Amino acid sequence: MRNITGSIVAGDDYFSRPAVERRLKEHLAYDHCRIMAPRRFGKSSFVGEVARQLRADGWLTVEFNVEGQVDEQAFWKELISRLGLIGFNLPLTQRIVETLKSSFPTMSGKLNLPGAELELNTAATDPVHTREQSNLNRLFHQVKQAPNPVLIALDEFPSLLLRLEQLGHGKQRVKDFLHWFRVVQQEFQPRLRWLVYGSVGLDSFAERNGLSAQINQLAPFSLGSFSPAEAHEFLIRLGIDNNLPVDEAVRQEILDRVGWPLPYFLQLVFHALKSLDLHPIGVSHVRQAIEKLCHPNSNSLFSTWHERLQDQFVDEDRTLVLDILKQLCEVPRGLRRQEIHKRLMARRAGADPDKLDENARRLLDVLVRDGYLSESDGQYAFLSFLLRSYWQRRHGE
Ligand SMILES: Nc1ncnc2c1ncn2[C@@H]1O[C@H](COP(=O)(O)OP(=O)(O)OP(=O)(O)O)[C@@H](O)[C@H]1O
Ligand SMILES: [Mg+2]
Repeated sequence: MRNITGSIVAGDDYFSRPAVERRLKEHLAYDHCRIMAPRRFGKSSFVGEVARQLRADGWLTVEFNVEGQVDEQAFWKELISRLGLIGFNLPLTQRIVETLKSSFPTMSGKLNLPGAELELNTAATDPVHTREQSNLNRLFHQVKQAPNPVLIALDEFPSLLLRLEQLGHGKQRVKDFLHWFRVVQQEFQPRLRWLVYGSVGLDSFAERNGLSAQINQLAPFSLGSFSPAEAHEFLIRLGIDNNLPVDEAVRQEILDRVGWPLPYFLQLVFHALKSLDLHPIGVSHVRQAIEKLCHPNSNSLFSTWHERLQDQFVDEDRTLVLDILKQLCEVPRGLRRQEIHKRLMARRAGADPDKLDENARRLLDVLVRDGYLSESDGQYAFLSFLLRSYWQRRHGE
């Protein structure tokens, strides 16, 4: 396992969690699923590995990141082309129409070829579906007849919904898109299985837009954090494979200082330890390595956590979320909800206390769900000590 800090890992670089992988495969045998886990949790690597295992079991898989798709049409087009890569193609005549339509969008009428008459004005023949939807339906019908089950795994799925929401008539577009998605999930199972995942909370998005019913066919799947035993095993592997063994005391010190053993954070700390260029590594070196990680030069390692909030929240919610985190990064042991409320009120002269309390509770729930905060007995604190110290440095008082 190489010491990789950021990109998707696969093969020997991937630390396997066989029980969790098996659990997802069992789920996918009879359910569509959604995996929402905090950023840098290891979602993409995990799904990549499960897809690889499914392929070994005879599945066909399509996996792609939908974050960059500009709208629903672009997404459908991309999906059509990805399905082509695993052998599901439109009939030749239809492909000719598609090529002509994309080169000459205003072209309409009929085209007579030897042995075939092609209808070019396809949109007019089906007023309910767009061309892409109709074409996809054709492909999904092929999938339904195929001997192998097909998995379509969509990375950063909530980001596509956020994108649609920001376009003209956004709310209606999201609603229509999720409606389409729900219908295809129903119509083409069990041969076609969907898996959506990402780090922007899909549930919070759906709740905010009154669309929870539209996503409830996607069974929630929890990846779960590393157990202490897994975290130790992970560090042992990293140490051995990178010629820098870390004994139990060092590993425990790393775990105590990290607070939350996300594989990404473990990789980061190990990387910082390596860069100290010391042999052998002792317990006191862990503090040095963490200080290095908390240096302003390392800000970019954590900035994604801040950027995601900017994408996920708008207006008053965004200000409130950032304000809550600003308060909490100053207090390692965390704050009780009432104390957070008091501090927020103090910064908002004339605010309605009940409304503020309602909003703060809702947003605290989201921050816990998205892995920023932990909650225990009404006390909220940063889950990751590394992230807290980054936040304090960059966004604290
Ligand atoms: N199973 C694993 N084995 C080894 N390292 C891992 C594993 N999972 C995650 N990592 C570490 O976490 C980093 C991020 O992994 P990955 O891209 O899969 O996470 P993600 O949740 O998809 O992240 P993002 O939210 O940025 O999309 C990897 O570069 C690696 O450092
Ligand atoms: Mg990812």
